[in-house]
Amino acid sequence: MPTHSSLDVLPLSSGDRDAWDPLWQGYLDFYDHALPTRIIDLTWNRLCDPAEPMGGLGAWADGKLVGMCHYVLHRSTWAEGTYCYLEDLFTSPPARGRGVGRALIEATAEAGRKAGAEKLYWQTHAGNATARSLYDRLARHEGFLVYERPLV
Ligand SMILES: CC(C)(COP(=O)(O)OP(=O)(O)OC[C@H]1O[C@@H](n2cnc3c(N)ncnc32)[C@H](O)[C@@H]1OP(=O)(O)O)[C@@H](O)C(=O)NCCC(=O)NCCS
Repeated sequence: MPTHSSLDVLPLSSGDRDAWDPLWQGYLDFYDHALPTRIIDLTWNRLCDPAEPMGGLGAWADGKLVGMCHYVLHRSTWAEGTYCYLEDLFTSPPARGRGVGRALIEATAEAGRKAGAEKLYWQTHAGNATARSLYDRLARHEGFLVYERPLV
C-alpha cells in the first residue's frame, strides 16, 4: 500500500478532542479495556497541558486524524536527562500499513529529544506480531520482561 501522500504529525491540542475520542476508544477496545469518562477527561487535559510531563501526537491525512500516540517523560536513576516512554500508539484500521505508526514513533523520538530525553522506549505484548514487525525495524528488543502488580 502506498504511503499517505501527505501526512502531518502534530502535537495534540485541545481543539482535537472530537477527533481523538474515537481513536482512543479504538485503542481501548483493542486492549478490551474500559476507562471511566473521568479518567479519559483527565488524560486528555493532561495531554494538552504543557506543564504536564506527558504529551500526545496526532497524525493527520487529508484533514482526518488517522493515528495518535501518547508519551510520558520521566526521571531516571541511570541518566542526567529524562527518558521518554511511549505509552500508547494507535492507527485507525483503514489507515494501517502506510507508515502512520512509523511516523508517530519517529515524531515521538524527536519530541523526546527536544524535551531533553536520552532514550525512547516502549513495550508491547509478545503476541502483537503486527506491532513487533514494525518495532523490530525501529528499535532493539533488549530482552527485558515487564512484571505488573496492581497497588490499588
Ligand atoms: C501497530 C500499529 C500502530 C502500526 O500502525 P501502522 O500505521 O499500520 O504502522 P506502519 O504503517 O508504520 O507499519 C506497519 C506496516 O506497514 C509497513 N510500512 C511502513 N511504512 C510503509 C510504507 N512507507 N509503505 C508501505 N508499507 C509500510 C511496515 O513495514 C509494516 O509492515 P508489516 O507489518 O507488513 O511488516 C497499528 O497496527 C495499530 O494501531 N494496531 C492496533 C493497536 C496496537 O497494536 N498498538 C500498538 C500497541 S504496543
